[in-house]
Amino acid sequence: MKQQPRRILVTSALPYANGPLHMGHLVEYIQTDIWVRFQKMCGHKCTYVCADDAHGTAISLHAEKLGVTPEQLVAQVNEERIKDFGEFFIEFDNYYTTHSEENRELSETIYLALREEGYISSQQISQAYDPEKQMFLADRYIKGECPRCGAEDQYGDNCEVCSATYSPSELKNAVSAISGAKPITKQSEHFFFNLSKFTEFLKKWTRSGAVSEEIANKLAEWLDTGLQNWDISRDSPYFGFEIPDQPGKYFYVWLDAPIGYMASFKNLCDRREDLNFDDYWGPDSKAEIYHFIGKDIINFHCLFWPAMLSGAGYRTPTAVCVHGYLTINNEKMSKSRGTFITARTFLDHLNPEYLRYFYAAKLTNRIDDLDLNLEDFAQKVNSDLVNKVINIASRCANFIKKSGGVLSSNNIAPELTEQFIDKGEQIAACYENREFAKAMREIMALADLANTYINDQAPWALAKQEGSTQQVLDICTVGINLFRLLMIYLKPVTPALATQAETYLNVDPLKWKDCKQLLLDHSVNKFKPLMQRVDMDKVKAMVEASKQIETQPLPADSPLLKDPIADEIEFDDFAKLDLRVAKVVKACHVEGAEKLLQLTLDIGGETRNVFSGIKSAYQPEDLEGKLTVLVANLKPRKMRFGVSEGMVLCAGPGGKDLWIIEPESGAKPGMRVL
Ligand code: MSP
Ligand code: ZN
Repeated sequence: MKQQPRRILVTSALPYANGPLHMGHLVEYIQTDIWVRFQKMCGHKCTYVCADDAHGTAISLHAEKLGVTPEQLVAQVNEERIKDFGEFFIEFDNYYTTHSEENRELSETIYLALREEGYISSQQISQAYDPEKQMFLADRYIKGECPRCGAEDQYGDNCEVCSATYSPSELKNAVSAISGAKPITKQSEHFFFNLSKFTEFLKKWTRSGAVSEEIANKLAEWLDTGLQNWDISRDSPYFGFEIPDQPGKYFYVWLDAPIGYMASFKNLCDRREDLNFDDYWGPDSKAEIYHFIGKDIINFHCLFWPAMLSGAGYRTPTAVCVHGYLTINNEKMSKSRGTFITARTFLDHLNPEYLRYFYAAKLTNRIDDLDLNLEDFAQKVNSDLVNKVINIASRCANFIKKSGGVLSSNNIAPELTEQFIDKGEQIAACYENREFAKAMREIMALADLANTYINDQAPWALAKQEGSTQQVLDICTVGINLFRLLMIYLKPVTPALATQAETYLNVDPLKWKDCKQLLLDHSVNKFKPLMQRVDMDKVKAMVEASKQIETQPLPADSPLLKDPIADEIEFDDFAKLDLRVAKVVKACHVEGAEKLLQLTLDIGGETRNVFSGIKSAYQPEDLEGKLTVLVANLKPRKMRFGVSEGMVLCAGPGGKDLWIIEPESGAKPGMRVL
């Protein structure tokens, strides 16, 4: 019976848009990407979506500090993210943002459906308020002295010194962490999602196979003590979506964040004929939906989210797959130790597939934490990928080439190749069940067998004997076939390495089912070295670089950092400017002027005399003949050297770094610039 391809939608948690991607995040995106690549290799219709989580106070405060709008911060971060992910071979079908129209619409729809069904209620609550900043303060934005041990500068509701837990109102001499003002208590109406009504539903759902038993047991602790209703609103100012019919009230970021999964998928469906939103999310959907997340956000994904979906008439996820937390050298990542390693810093020093392999070798389907010990990392990658796997190909390829570059038509080790082929199913099951560490162990055990075979046969010794050509070719053909099978099994983890192997083997992109056949009587291409060893010096350089790095979501040289965008203007204000294309007919120095050049400009039949402060950047003769843009209706200004009739547009901070704006050559002097 032919198996139907499965239809699978996969997500990773949406990373907050207020900081760079780091090694911890990558555990998740690499894990998910490996799983997705495996499904795709098996011929299933698998779609992988993600997005930036753009909303919330942390992001707007961060943007404010940088002097940019939250939208600008989010856009900038999004662009860098997409690059980082791409270079780690994390291949989303769509990477979007939660600050999108699709997400606004879906969030409103879901909220209104929940309200309609009676799952939304409201209540006055009192909360700390910053009278200076005029905003309510979440716990983490209040600091003061610990009520138990008196330690200063403790945030929110727990003391880092004595581990006491308390309510922020108990902090002594509390101040707003944002403005330093003394918070007051203020009342406000909040909206709640009545989670407690879903208790029975969630007790069933969490035991339906949607989460592992380990997670279900954790969730049972919450479910058994009774669920609190969930506060889903925040007061203005807040970067997010305004709640329908409630001016000045916004959805809490965690309400619209998971809806962002749907929104990213919807955005993709609108571009793809073969994907239909309702086929995946509708109540009768037969598709599978998987969310990959870290253990810190279980309650949002395994309680709030399925309850919201079911309350609003959507299907619930097939499963939520939870991983543990990353430590580096057995400690929390730390900037001072140089272990807060960003995705970019890693890419600047090392091959991304090293990390993909190392994580795969560590990942299980449980939520134990995993450690990236940097010595161990180098050693593991070198001994497994380079010494075991790659070595098989490099030891055989040369002999194949010598005997004409065509693999033998004999398989002289059918038992061994059969053993490799047979393992395929078990390795596939490990991938399917997210037992990647186990899959890697199985694969490396096969690689050991392959190396033993080659050592025993010693084709290099045989090659010295007369009349041994065919035998050497036969042995190396086995070797290359074993290598090919290993590459199929490793392809979800090391896709770039697999692509190089495909080029050498002269075959189409390898699919999982290709592990059923061997490659015989087939001509291969020239062999090129496939992967360098991990160089410990580069690892050390990466750690050093990580100590230096200021984690800045905007590039250090971004002009937006120094010079934020000015206040918004009306269109009418803009329309008052009359900008014209102007041709520099003459440019000359001005006697006695330090900064000015005198320009004679043709604006289409009318000539203007303009003094422009660009002497530090241009020689007069370089300007003659150029087109530029003139503010033509600027009131003429009398200067010491004559009257200046308008202003030429330039960009840059000044000095040598100043560039006049040049229209393309098709523009004619006098044309209006819009
Ligand atoms: N924005 C939320 C998720 C919203 S999903 C609707 C968020 N963002 S995050 O940037 O803090 O984390 C994104 C993912 O990375 C989470 O699944 C989180 O568990 C994971 N990790 C962040 N740091 C991590 C480690 N140090 N180790 C492993 N995973 C980590 O949470
Ligand atoms: Zn304390």
